[in-house]
Amino acid sequence: MITPVLLCGGSGTRLWPLSRKSYPKQFSALMGAQSLFQASALRLEGPEFAAPLVITGEEFRFIVSEQLGAAGCASSDVLIEPKGRDTAPAILAAALHLAATDPEAMMLVAPSDHVIPDAAAFRATVAAALPAAEAGRLVTFGIAPDRAETGYGYLELDAVPSAGAAPSPAPLRAFVEKPDAARAAAMLAEGRYLWNAGIFLFKVSSILEAFRAHAPDLIAPVQAALDGAKRDLGFTRLDAGPWARVQPISIDYAVMEKADNLSVVPYSGRWSDLGDWASVWRETADDTGVALSGPTLAIDCTNTLLRSEAGGQRVVGIGLDDIVAVAMPDAVLIAHKSRTQEVKAAVAALKAEG
Ligand code: GDD
Ligand code: MG
Repeated sequence: MITPVLLCGGSGTRLWPLSRKSYPKQFSALMGAQSLFQASALRLEGPEFAAPLVITGEEFRFIVSEQLGAAGCASSDVLIEPKGRDTAPAILAAALHLAATDPEAMMLVAPSDHVIPDAAAFRATVAAALPAAEAGRLVTFGIAPDRAETGYGYLELDAVPSAGAAPSPAPLRAFVEKPDAARAAAMLAEGRYLWNAGIFLFKVSSILEAFRAHAPDLIAPVQAALDGAKRDLGFTRLDAGPWARVQPISIDYAVMEKADNLSVVPYSGRWSDLGDWASVWRETADDTGVALSGPTLAIDCTNTLLRSEAGGQRVVGIGLDDIVAVAMPDAVLIAHKSRTQEVKAAVAALKAEG
């Protein structure tokens, strides 16, 4: 059995004004009727999967249980972080929690904000990855890149995977997290690189060994936070004292860039990390390149996203090209589509203003 570990702690500020600190993007129904978090939980249901372990922030605990209930999913447990410490401590806490009952348990770490429409194909790819994970490898899932994206990790292979081949694990030469634009362009041109989907399959014992080798300082405070955890209203609340001593770092920098026992399984279905409004546009645009949601009207617009959320303000665009406009009851974003990564900095500036 594989235990899905659903990471659900990020705040997704690049999708402001829809994504907010108290209600981040993974809980919004950005695409379709379910939230991204609900779709992530439902995607990993089936005979080969145990009930998921969710790890999330204090402020999201009730949204998590409400959305799991509404989707008809039962979780095995919900670990609560007193404060987000990025993905490495979250994954380590989940691994140590599972190790208490089964050190050889298999875990599939999955973000809760991705779009993967073909759930069956994705589960088949996970099944193809199992033998490598059982043999002690840390398995990543690779996506064929189509642009020089700087927001992703890159997986270097020995050779270009042949198109249409059945997915099978290949050893990884190197893992490059979030390159600068020049390096991303070089890797795209080179052809032997896949994007890291941010989804990982490994045994609890394998990832704990990797933490001992590459990020040993995280182990004592995370273990202490678990040892001091309190059960409360069905949640396992990590002890804030030792957790405050945990250094924030992502799994990619803490472990994946350093480990030498990585494998990659290519995934050829559609995949997207809805990280910014340009990616939402890419996933939802029609043939004319226009993506509309809510009460909107686009006249002579191209490559444009117009959304009206939650309050019903009407959004009308005329003659726009490469623009995103998102209206909420209390805030409106208008940006050039090539600059939607900068929304994060804009949110920081708003916060500094108070
Ligand atoms: N519980 C918890 N606690 N979850 C967290 C925390 C935390 O402190 N920080 C982030 N997460 C969750 C996010 O909500 C998201 O679901 C997932 O972990 C990944 O974090 P992101 O912050 O979205 O990472 P990223 O997109 O910048 O980069 C990662 O994903 C890319 C693909 O989407 C990396 O793994 C890249 O290498 C990868 O290409
Ligand atoms: Mg992400």
